[in-house]
Parts: sequence; structure tokens; C-alpha cells
Amino acid sequence: MTYNDIRKIFLTYFEQHGHKIVPSASLIPNDPTLLFSVAGMVQWKGVFQGTEQPIAPRVANVQKCIRAGGKHNDLEDVGFDGRHHTFFEMLGNWSFGDYFKEGAIEMSWELLTKVIGLDPNRIVVTTHISDDEATAIWKKITGKDAIRLDKDNWWSAGETGPCGPCTEMHYDFGPDVPGGLPGSPDEDGGRFVEIWNDVFMQYDRDANGNLTPLPKQNVDTGAGLERWAAVLQNKLDNYDTDLFANLKSAVSDLTGVKETEENKPSFKIITDHLRAVGFAIADGVIPSNADRGYVIRRILRRAMRHGQILGHKGELLSALYPALVKEMGDAYPELKTQEKHVVEIIKNEENSFADMLQNGMKLLESELPKVNNNILPGEIAFKLFDTYGFPLDLTQMILRDKKMDVDVDSFEKCMKEQKERSRADTRGTRVLWESQTDLPATDDSEKYEAETNRTAKVLSILRGEEFVKSANPGDAVEIALDHTPFYGTQGGQVGDMGVFKIGDKIVMNVAETNRVGNVVIHKGTLTEPVSIGDEVIPEINLTVRQQTARAHTATHLLQAALRQVLNEDVEQRGSKVAPDSVRFDFSFGRAMSAEEKQSVEDLVNKWIAQNLTVSHEEMDIESAKKRGAMALFGEKYGDRVRVITAGDVSCELCGGTHVYHTGEIIKARINKEKSISSGIRRITMSVGTLAE
Ligand code: ALA
Repeated sequence: MTYNDIRKIFLTYFEQHGHKIVPSASLIPNDPTLLFSVAGMVQWKGVFQGTEQPIAPRVANVQKCIRAGGKHNDLEDVGFDGRHHTFFEMLGNWSFGDYFKEGAIEMSWELLTKVIGLDPNRIVVTTHISDDEATAIWKKITGKDAIRLDKDNWWSAGETGPCGPCTEMHYDFGPDVPGGLPGSPDEDGGRFVEIWNDVFMQYDRDANGNLTPLPKQNVDTGAGLERWAAVLQNKLDNYDTDLFANLKSAVSDLTGVKETEENKPSFKIITDHLRAVGFAIADGVIPSNADRGYVIRRILRRAMRHGQILGHKGELLSALYPALVKEMGDAYPELKTQEKHVVEIIKNEENSFADMLQNGMKLLESELPKVNNNILPGEIAFKLFDTYGFPLDLTQMILRDKKMDVDVDSFEKCMKEQKERSRADTRGTRVLWESQTDLPATDDSEKYEAETNRTAKVLSILRGEEFVKSANPGDAVEIALDHTPFYGTQGGQVGDMGVFKIGDKIVMNVAETNRVGNVVIHKGTLTEPVSIGDEVIPEINLTVRQQTARAHTATHLLQAALRQVLNEDVEQRGSKVAPDSVRFDFSFGRAMSAEEKQSVEDLVNKWIAQNLTVSHEEMDIESAKKRGAMALFGEKYGDRVRVITAGDVSCELCGGTHVYHTGEIIKARINKEKSISSGIRRITMSVGTLAE
């Protein structure tokens, strides 16, 4: 029985038993407490809690899951046994106040023993220590005595939320395989494998661990498809089942290396990570340095390391992705529709890490002979992290093969020191600039024009902690000019990037632009010598400028949409506008529902699609007030203000840069909504190509 057969049999069985079959929900959950969908029930949390209506009393599906961060995390174990995955598929059926323990157990038992034909004598069941009811039902239906366990038979998705006692079914591979019964000290031996878990969702757990009964008694079941395949194909190792066998041959074809006992972990890790990275990016995750983006980046980098172990150079997961589409694209069409985008994103990541991986490995290998007690000093792990982009767990994974580990405490100390240093750096140069009292205010009146090629005079150069007359190529400097079109970070909008030129030659790469008082400071690295008094042409990176402008206009639309969907009292309490990304804090007393978030996102996208004209006007504050322009809570404004108006949807006082038509924003997508303090919520949103 192949994966495709099993999915079909499972869904057909539950459809015949009155269940509505629904597609898998996205891997990105609509739930701020989770990084990924870790189980089929994640999308039904609100239904269990009674805040959302169920679409039917009985539902079933096959759900994409990732367990690679937070409470449910299997990342470290992948590759070293045959049962762990970061990405896996969960077969599940649910009852929302419909059937309960008896119905759930009866159907599980019938499907396992009558439909897919497992030998009833090879199935061992466990129940929760407190659950006499489920224990009696098993006895009645099967004549079996359940093994009664405590911790293992209680299930919840997160630290808080719906939970309840559960009953598990385990398959016995027989006495030839080492390993003990569930609950015994050697239960991980591999002889018994959990193949199904029926959870009786009865309680809601709060942050203090208190249990409140849910409005209804529900059933939430989950069965790992990979394990079913292993049992039905009589394989002790999930990675030897049909789907993985095909993915592993793709790895062999690409690398020219055959699988052996010795390199098997690398084959497992690469095929597992291919699925996690491919599916997550197809669902909209972008590798990055934070949250789920960082989980995916780490997984991708681990895979590349294993490509390297197989002697493979160059693109790995991006080259294997078509094999994944071939294997799973029929069951999950998004893999096909997103193919171009996913491959492009993986390629970018792989290309940017390839050299760092080579060089970082060189450093690590040169350090290994010096290691004492098999513990790598935290400083080295930190250098690998800071200079070569090695996530800590990647270094640990490499060392694991050599039976070594990292001194995590000293690694964390280095991290903390670096954070303090970078805080001191910003404070430090700010204080230095503030001491330059005779430096005139920068004329930045042309900042809204962006495209000027007027020359500007270098007034001041800061190198390290010292103001200098001139500086050389390679120097990291901060420079003030007499006038500039660069926007310096203010009003929540991050500053411009770009270059300074003399003639056609670039003399400085400007990585960020800040303001200290009325002085605009350009920070970056010189590529040619520059001296005080030089005439340079400041040129803005227009792509980044446009990405920031569309994020800023989108922020105004977001605020308007929130006021329309939630209520007129919603007020902005802070924001950060960066290229294609928005963070928006606002006053509101509770979490937004999934529907509210969707309506807000839909409204913003509707206004984008209408391509409303955005006008940028300067006027006196009285006229602006008459216009009804929204001002920021607690903000002071001068007599002359800028008013940004988008169609008849939004009118705000604002000093930032904006697009001229809302269509330039392309698309907006809300990523997350969470509480940051009492009565204040935070939304993060992507726009432009990132949102697309
Ligand atoms: N939600 C339950 C689990 O993941 C069924 O095991």
C-alpha cells in the first residue's frame, strides 16, 4: 500500500462514516502561540473552545505538519532513527460535540483491523491513568486490557488551550526487534510504534495550568502517515517506504553517491529537510533571521551540510525540489503552482550560504585538534554563527558525529555581549555626533524627490570613535553632508540605503541612514578615499525606497481597515516600516478573530486593487485638521505638515515616503497578530513581492 493508497483509504473510510473531508490547512497557523501547524487539530482550536462554528459535526483530512520548534520539536532526532521527521503528514478525524470515546475507538479499531487489515494481536493500546471509560470501551470492543499511563496519554498543542486524555494504538513489529512496551524504560527500541492517537478534547488549559471544561466533548485523532506506510510496507524504517525511497534515489542521482549504512543519516536528513523547506516555502515562509523564517533557514543549512558530507557541491534542495513535486504534487497542488517561487528562494539561500559553509568548516576543522574534554568553546561556536552564519544547532549537529558538543553557556554569553556591544555602538556614535555642536542641520528637503543628482559637500566623517579629515577604502564610516535626498530613520520608517559617487565612480556604499537631531548621518563602507570638503553625488537605492514606500502606504491602509473592521477607537501606538514589511501596534482590548484578520487583509487588498490615487500635500496644521487628517497619539507637529491621502479611505499627517497609487503596493498579507502589552496588539504584515 503506497502513500497515495493510504491517504485515499483513510479519507474514504471517514467520508463513508459521515465526515466532511477538508483539505490540509496551511503550515502557517492562524495562531500566535505556534510557529507551524503541529497537528491536524490546530485549525480547529477555536471550534473546540466554542469561539468558532464547526463547518460540520464530523470532519477528516490529511494535514501537513512541521514539528521543528517550540513544544513539539523533533529536529534534533531526524536522521538518527527511522521514525522522526520535521515535516510529516497527519491523518486525522474529528468530532465536534458529536461522537465521543466509544465512536472514536470503534472506528479506529475497525479501520486498523478490518479495512487495512492489521493483525489485532499486534496492536497494543494505552489509555490515561484517569480514564476508566476509555479503558472499559477497549475491553468491551476488543477484549484487550489497556496499558494505563499518565504523561504520555495527555495531549495538547501548546502550553495553553484545548487538551484532554488520549488513548494510543501501537503496532508490534514482533519479538525479533529490540524494544519494550509503551511506558517501559526501553520503549524507544523500535519494536512498538505508535500508529494512532485518539484525544478526547474536554478541557481548556490556562497559563496557570487550570483546566476548565470545554463547551462540548470533542474527539481529535492523529495518525502519522509515514508510520502507517512503514507498518503496511513492513519496513522498520520510515525512510525505506516508497515515497522516501524515491526521494532518496533523486538524492543519489543528483550527488552520484549510493546510499550505504554509513551515509544513511545524510540521506534521511536531506529528504526530510527537503519536505520541510519545500512545503513551508510553498505556504509562504521566507527564510530569515527570526521566527519560522529562521527555523526554515536552519533546516536548509543543516541539509546543505549533509550534502557536503556526501561530497556534493552546489545547489541541493533547489535541485531536488522537482522530485518532491513529482512525489507529492498530486496530493498537494500548491507544490506545483509555487514551484518557480520556491526554487528561486531556495536557490538564493543556498547560494548565499555555500561559501560560508566551506569557510566555516575550515575554521571548525582547524579548531578541533585544540578541543578539550570534547567540548568546543562557546567563543568558536559564536564565531561560526556570527561570521559564517552557522546556527548553533548546525554546529552541534556537526560535532555530534564526532561525539562532541558546544559549551552552550559560553556561546550564550558571547551572544549577550554582542547584543550589548551593538546597543552601546548606537548609543556611542549618537553621543559623538551630539558633541559636534557647530555642525549645521542637514538640508534634507529633497528627500521626497529621491531622484536628484545634485552634488553635496562632505562636512564630517566619523571613523570608529574618531572624527577624521579623510578615510580610506574599506573603512566603516559615518558621514554628514550639507544636504541629502536620503531619508534618515524617523517616524517608524527605516532610512534609505544607496551609494555616494564622485563622477561615475562609487566611493561609498551606504547601508543605513539615521538622524541625530537635525543632522542626517549616512553609515556605510568606503570603496575609495573620501575627505572633508569632497563633492559627492548621493544616490538612493530606488528599489529599496519603493519597497519602503509601499510598506508605508500599506500601513495607512491597514490602520483604516482596522478602524473599519474593529472599531473607530483603534489608534496607532507605534510602527516600524521597512522594505516590504510592516509592524503596526495599536490599541485594542482583545485578540482578533481569524475572520476579523481576514476581513482586514481583504479590505487592504481591495483598496490596493482599486489603485487609489495617493496624494502628498504640504499645508498648515489648521487646514490639515479641517481635512480630518488623523494625527498620531502623543505626537508633536510643527505648523507646516504633510498630509497623505489615499482615495477617500485614509487621510493622515505623515512625514514618510509613500507610493503615488495604491496598486504599487501589489499585495498585502497579515502574518501575525499578537498582544504586546495590556490593551496593545501588534500586527506584522508583508507587502509587495514578499507578500506575493
Ligand atoms: N492532536 C493529536 C496528536 O497530534 C491527535 O497526536
